[in-house]
Amino acid sequence: MTVIDGKKISEEIQNEISAEVKKIRSSGGKIPHLAAVLVGNDGASETYVGGKVKACEKVGFKSTLVRLPGTVSENDLLKKIAELNCDNDIDGFIVQLPLPKHISDRKVIETIDPKKDVDGFHPVNVGRMALNLPSYLPATPYGILQLIERYKIETTGKNCVVIGRSHIVGSPMSILMARNAYPGNCTVTITHSKTKNLKEICLSADILIVALGKAEFLTADYVKQGTVVIDVGITRVKSDKTKSGWKLLGDVKYDEVAPKCSFITPVPGGVGPMTITALLMNTLKASKMEIYT
Ligand code: GUN
Repeated sequence: MTVIDGKKISEEIQNEISAEVKKIRSSGGKIPHLAAVLVGNDGASETYVGGKVKACEKVGFKSTLVRLPGTVSENDLLKKIAELNCDNDIDGFIVQLPLPKHISDRKVIETIDPKKDVDGFHPVNVGRMALNLPSYLPATPYGILQLIERYKIETTGKNCVVIGRSHIVGSPMSILMARNAYPGNCTVTITHSKTKNLKEICLSADILIVALGKAEFLTADYVKQGTVVIDVGITRVKSDKTKSGWKLLGDVKYDEVAPKCSFITPVPGGVGPMTITALLMNTLKASKMEIYT
């Protein structure tokens, strides 16, 4: 059994990006520039956006944090997005979700120029992904593909079962694993809360991607010997064994599932560290105009 080290791979990729930024800098090229829009002051969103800005600094990108009050009108947010679309110095930007209830996520996402949509959430990027055309891939699925690739995990002809159909992880992951590409070429089953015989379906999986957001949901009786298990869950629970008083749990009951796996991602230190790195990869692509030439 191999434990997939997302922290290590993430550092490797960030080092590769830093080296590329150094080259760009020494040849007088344009430094990649990511902007993040944060509406209101939700604690988790603050942490995520803070992590994205810090990662930009680490690899030598420029970053801009646009803070708007939670009371901002939908119209004013859309105007800000239109400004960022036109700002030639900004290569890509994200609007951190969730947004306050009075603002439509859909309208916001559809206002972002697909060429700057480094989250890969715009319908144009989702459609291009489904058609196997160059597109920005959403960060978590893109990070998972990197892990599969860098650990040289065989995917062709394998049965891949995805648990969860969110627009951010489950749905794009199922599209990507079915594409005629590497990683890909799997026979994919996407499952969700209405699925019957979930255990039976999971037992047919060679690759199991678990993204339903329920701590320690997946137990050993759902997993056959030799399966690749990718755990996308992160739930914070109280713990009297850690200094902070909190610990993170994945969607997989790690201690009993891991011994049955060929590969497994731990929580923390598996998929989590890859998501920001994938956003940096998309931002570099945006600055090099790799996707939309
Ligand atoms: N909220 C949780 N994950 C994400 C993400 O990947 N991008 C954005 N914009 N918001 C999020």
